[in-house]
Amino acid sequence: MLIVPGSNFTRQSMELAKRLGVEVVEVEKKVFPDGEVYVRLKGLPSDLGSTCVAVANTMYPSQDTALVETLLLLNAVHKAGGKDVVLVAPYLPYMRQDKVFLQGEPVSAEVVLEVLTRTIKRGLVVDVHNPGVLESRPWTNILVSDMLVAQALKYVTDPIVMAPDKGALERAGFAASKLNLEFDYLIKERDRVTGEVTVKPKSVSVAGRDVVIVDDIISTGGTLAEAAKFLRSQGARRIVVAATHGLLVGGAMRKMDEAGFSKIILADTLGVTHISPSILYVSVVERISGFLREVCLER
Ligand code: R5P
Repeated sequence: MLIVPGSNFTRQSMELAKRLGVEVVEVEKKVFPDGEVYVRLKGLPSDLGSTCVAVANTMYPSQDTALVETLLLLNAVHKAGGKDVVLVAPYLPYMRQDKVFLQGEPVSAEVVLEVLTRTIKRGLVVDVHNPGVLESRPWTNILVSDMLVAQALKYVTDPIVMAPDKGALERAGFAASKLNLEFDYLIKERDRVTGEVTVKPKSVSVAGRDVVIVDDIISTGGTLAEAAKFLRSQGARRIVVAATHGLLVGGAMRKMDEAGFSKIILADTLGVTHISPSILYVSVVERISGFLREVCLER
């Protein structure tokens, strides 16, 4: 087995290789003066044949560049004769545009998955926004909400696990059932033009209780800030966030601070990008190496 590291996943690829006892391929990378990306895999066997090759890159930040770089790496492996290729993409971009919400829009998730799946045998993603987009494609979605909520339990007492919208119910339910906790969800509405989030009134039994909110992505922080406001209005005590991908763009950190979360637990699918006393990162490398061991080494 060989690991081909993408620019956004170099350190984690080294860690994966060490755990699995396999080699990392040296990748020469440069950017042409016009901004185009160049990659070259160095020291490959003349024909990769049946060698399992894992191309590993997380596609954030600079989603578009990371996407192109990953496609070039996959093509280079293909040109070197690689047939048993696994793509490890802890964060896949464009997955939230998983349907036509407003007339004239594309289904971006479909586009990205189609190009990425062309030359691979298997794909791995961590907590994709809507697992439905992977249906009838050779992809595996790994949920990590159980690990995040397990960490969250250090900061709360007898909490209820809460999904900020119905879409997050599966990941919240997964963690809650693994850890034997109660769970519920809120009703969220997002204005498709302005992006503004509102949480609709709904009866939830959080009065006097600690809450762990489970979500896939923190982008602008609007969803979590609104969820916290609503939960506090219902009498919630401490609130901890357990979210997989911490994009935390724009003023998200300020919103998180203002919402007064006791702790924000994030998976390190994008690396450790925000150093703050309120944030705790949980590594996903062990789960990814477990998957690679199963699909590449123990067959
Ligand atoms: C949307 O349904 C997702 O699951 C997240 O709740 C959302 O992407 C978070 O975005 P923001 O932090 O900008 O509200």
